[in-house]
Amino acid sequence: MEHSEKTSLIDCGDLSTSCKVGELSVLNRSKVECKSMSMQPIISERSLREYIRKDLGVENPYTGNFPQFYDLLLSSGYVDHEESARQLTRLLGRSRSILEIGVGTGVLTQELIERGHQVTGIDLSEAMLQQARRRIGCHAELKLQDVCELNLDQKFDAAVSEGGVWFFVPRCNRLMLQSHLAGVGKNLQALRKVAQHLKPGGKFAISIHEANADYSMPLESGLFLTEFHRELKRGIESTFSIHTADGVILSHGVQKFATFGGAEQNRLFAAAGFGDARVVSGTDYLLLERH
Ligand SMILES: C[S@@+](CC[C@H](N)C(=O)[O-])C[C@H]1O[C@@H](n2cnc3c(N)ncnc32)[C@H](O)[C@@H]1O
Repeated sequence: MEHSEKTSLIDCGDLSTSCKVGELSVLNRSKVECKSMSMQPIISERSLREYIRKDLGVENPYTGNFPQFYDLLLSSGYVDHEESARQLTRLLGRSRSILEIGVGTGVLTQELIERGHQVTGIDLSEAMLQQARRRIGCHAELKLQDVCELNLDQKFDAAVSEGGVWFFVPRCNRLMLQSHLAGVGKNLQALRKVAQHLKPGGKFAISIHEANADYSMPLESGLFLTEFHRELKRGIESTFSIHTADGVILSHGVQKFATFGGAEQNRLFAAAGFGDARVVSGTDYLLLERH
């Protein structure tokens, strides 16, 4: 059966509801701000690509100068992490031990800590982690680790990927899994690592975001974020830049995401040791449970 056709009973207190994966009307409360502020791209895709073609060495945006701008993006409403932490607390319960995968600059981590959770965050980018350490200090464990080789001496109540290594985007009224990791093999290896670091019955929440679109978004301090997307054979390429109103580019990057449709997601999650995926009504998360 197609993953997107499954009906799941969600059991999480007052959120208890029954909904199909792929019913999108309930989603994106904490990720709507970006869309409401977005507008047609104010620089051309061609000029951005031309600029990037001449500027070498930006394949991984999280190791260039982008981390310096990342918090500006977040504080300008790209994602409402306060709302995310509220939803996660309702989904996962209070005072949980949480593994955050692709922790970035730690904005969600901080919100989770403030709600009484014990958080361990991992990320592949030292530049992103440095900002997270400045923000959080010793209030969370922050480790430089690739999720594919995840190796922590702890099992957690829950794991979260908030636009981190994995996230979902709506597509044709279904949810498509997008991954920073290339190919089925890497994704399976990494999902298994996550499952191995969860207690039996532990939950894994993966965030759901806006559909891919080409747009510009005003940031605080008069700068703009512009993003363009291109279909690849087995994924999506996102080209983005932070620039001034008159098109002076300050930071840019190209990211390639692997994408997985419903049936492939099912197989991946099952092979990694998770049960059925469930969208919880009124939240921006898809929830998996470790066997
Ligand atoms: C879009 S950022 C999201 C950061 C944060 N979760 C947030 O909500 O702001 C994605 C993060 O995933 C990290 N990442 C990508 N691939 C990874 C991997 N294989 N292992 C660990 N982290 C990874 C990146 O370095 C980046 O910090």
